[in-house]
Amino acid sequence: MALRGAWTQGRGLLLLLRLQARGCQRGQWTRALATSAGARGRCEALVYRKHGEPLDVIHLENVKLSQLGDFDIRIQMLAAPINPSDINMMQGTYPILPDLPAIGGNEGVGRILEVGSKVTNMKPGDWVIPSGTGLGTWRIEAVSNMNTFIKVPKVIPLLCAATLSVNPCTAYRMLYDFESLKPGDSVIQNAANSGVGQATIQIAKAMSLKTINVIRDRPDIQELSDRLKAMGADYVITEEALRKPEMKELFKVVPRPRLALNGVGGKSATEMLQHLEKGGTIVTYGGMAKKPVTVPVSTLIFKDVKIRGFWVTQWKREHGQDLLQEMISQLCGFIQEGKLEAPICTEVQFQDYQTALKATTTPYTSSKQILIM
Ligand SMILES: NC(=O)c1ccc[n+]([C@@H]2O[C@H](COP(=O)([O-])OP(=O)(O)OC[C@H]3O[C@@H](n4cnc5c(N)ncnc54)[C@H](OP(=O)(O)O)[C@@H]3O)[C@@H](O)[C@H]2O)c1
Repeated sequence: MALRGAWTQGRGLLLLLRLQARGCQRGQWTRALATSAGARGRCEALVYRKHGEPLDVIHLENVKLSQLGDFDIRIQMLAAPINPSDINMMQGTYPILPDLPAIGGNEGVGRILEVGSKVTNMKPGDWVIPSGTGLGTWRIEAVSNMNTFIKVPKVIPLLCAATLSVNPCTAYRMLYDFESLKPGDSVIQNAANSGVGQATIQIAKAMSLKTINVIRDRPDIQELSDRLKAMGADYVITEEALRKPEMKELFKVVPRPRLALNGVGGKSATEMLQHLEKGGTIVTYGGMAKKPVTVPVSTLIFKDVKIRGFWVTQWKREHGQDLLQEMISQLCGFIQEGKLEAPICTEVQFQDYQTALKATTTPYTSSKQILIM
């Protein structure tokens, strides 16, 4: 397998060099490579055969593509992000794990190259995103059932499409499903510079809500704060400021939040809780600090706050394709109206995946790494 992989990679390189000699641009090369890969029934993919630290376990391999069935589509992946859950899956610590060997990545956007004979609502050239987890998006091509994808308009920017199916959906559901918020209400969130956090800022703005955004302190804090404010953040504060009595001043100009979104856990979550409005809700969706959420007894007794959790994968399983399509259409509408843009991103060529993985696991990177195929 390894030898065959090296041989086909060698042929791919040869093809690239030939195309380069003919003066082709990189986009043209990858298209030509993808077409030739599909014709051979194989393609390049980032595969892990055991669990462990991503850089130790993931390798570029040449994998076999499934035969195109009647209800299948064949796509060329265009771009795919690296999310924390992808890292946890490779580490073997995520609640759902694909069988090994597995291809990394769960999100991204692809262009349809070919459709099966019974596929009616999709055609070559359309853009699609995965409807659930487990596709393995870090690859040049994929063949899968049409129901494992959702169509998105080609007019939206590539990076928006590549990062649409997980974080904006999570932010959208958390803002709509836990509290009935009305214009002028406020929401507090930690990890505000994360993909989920940036989507929350923008969707909340579109809903005329005020956001209080908590980030970790860092040398370039002003620059980050300015970027989040340019996206629509009303207030950006550090985790340290969250603990200070001056927070009372903030609540003279903005109502106390009825909703807190927690992607961190530990002290950060406990401190957000203290600022919730009586009867408000804290929704935990991530645990970046790897520390449990501690709820002070007084917050439960005297404020009767609701402690909830959210997992977008479960939401998709329970609500089906039609409601997912409805939400995606709404989010694409926000994108087209200029209300939702992609998170701060770094585009990394697919073959440079190790650089992207290193950046993803480095604290304070503040930029989503997107593999460009
Ligand atoms: N439940 C769901 O359905 C769902 C859906 C999407 C995402 N998630 C989860 O949400 C979290 C964020 O995902 P994402 O894709 O938005 O992340 P991301 O864009 O990769 O950003 C990671 C965020 O985590 C922060 N962070 C990292 N280590 C931290 C620590 N020790 N303490 C505090 N903050 C820390 C980073 O802040 P710095 O810049 O300060 O490093 C950054 O804000 C992840 O846990 C992910 O698995 C859950």
